[in-house]
Amino acid sequence: MSSTPKKRLLTGDTPTGKLHLGHYVGSVENRLALQDEYDCYFIIANKHAFTTRAERPDEIRQSVIDIATDYLACGIDPSKSNMFIQSEVPAIDELTFFFSMLIPFNRVMRNPTLAQEIKDKDLGDKYPFGFPLYAVGQTADILAFRPEIVPVGEDQLPHLELTREVSRKFNQVYCGVNPHAKDNENVQQGGLFPVIEPKLGRIKRLVGLGAPSDTGQLLKMSKSLNNAIFLSDDADTVQKKIMTMYTDPKRLRVTDPGETDPEKNPLWAFHEAFNPDKAWVAEHQEMYRGGKIGDVAIKKKLIEILNSILEPIRQRRKQYENRPDDVIAALKQGTANANVIAEETLALAKKAMRQDYFPRELRLK
Ligand code: TRP
Repeated sequence: MSSTPKKRLLTGDTPTGKLHLGHYVGSVENRLALQDEYDCYFIIANKHAFTTRAERPDEIRQSVIDIATDYLACGIDPSKSNMFIQSEVPAIDELTFFFSMLIPFNRVMRNPTLAQEIKDKDLGDKYPFGFPLYAVGQTADILAFRPEIVPVGEDQLPHLELTREVSRKFNQVYCGVNPHAKDNENVQQGGLFPVIEPKLGRIKRLVGLGAPSDTGQLLKMSKSLNNAIFLSDDADTVQKKIMTMYTDPKRLRVTDPGETDPEKNPLWAFHEAFNPDKAWVAEHQEMYRGGKIGDVAIKKKLIEILNSILEPIRQRRKQYENRPDDVIAALKQGTANANVIAEETLALAKKAMRQDYFPRELRLK
């Protein structure tokens, strides 16, 4: 074994449902590719789920298990990677409180992801106090692990920007880092927190299945928009979803008489995301543009491709569904390991803040 510890990777999901293909290409694929190279921590952010579901705790609990099962089914290996439950890592909350003092409230509210969520979920001014707090909390989710990289989908970039601001501020205020220090020099100059770099997935934003209301700009794949293919969908469901996918002829922008623009059709967005045979895609797009081939043939090919990606995930899922205790055991071990790092970070943060009064230990029973 090498003596230098592996660098850390942190990312995660809010348990508000099951994972879908958008999660897969946006972040899960990167996690699978990097789990040998990095010491990985995957947070299941159950507290964040309470921002909009405080009255439905059973649903959140079920979703925690579903997401953990999704991770394992995708091939996240619990002997290498740590998946953990946010609410059982108290150092994250403690850091949240301290970090919340370093960012102006108005700065938090200018976070475009929050603004979008308020709009999408029609929260108006009725959102709970904890809603903006979750954005500060996410900076602590990340920094508790002082990770080298954070693979996320594009919608998470504003949270990562806020995280970078917290690192700089903390390092300047408590660690004596020069305000003019370059981001990549913060740790070298004695800063506790790295100014983290996001790592986007191969596909930044996967479109959804499309819907008649979905005109103009195609909406992203999302459980709440009811336009998702879940990693847990069986072969028949995938077939049905693709075959009944709405491909509005008006959406095929006519560029020349008789020509349509495949970019405007979610079917082609899916082929570009999942079909490994680029030559096939180019050739069939050409035929499609010329009106020589219709939706059905393209849909059939897509079903075949998606099911070949999902089949090994389904097989692994079956094994875990038969052994639910293994899922819990993996979560517990991951959470115990996460606490080791997060407690260490918190102790270092308190020391930097001159609030290190009594050392402590934390242990799961
Ligand atoms: N907000 C993320 C989502 O909804 C989930 C999340 C919580 C997360 N904490 C995180 C992602 C830390 C990356 C890093 O998908």
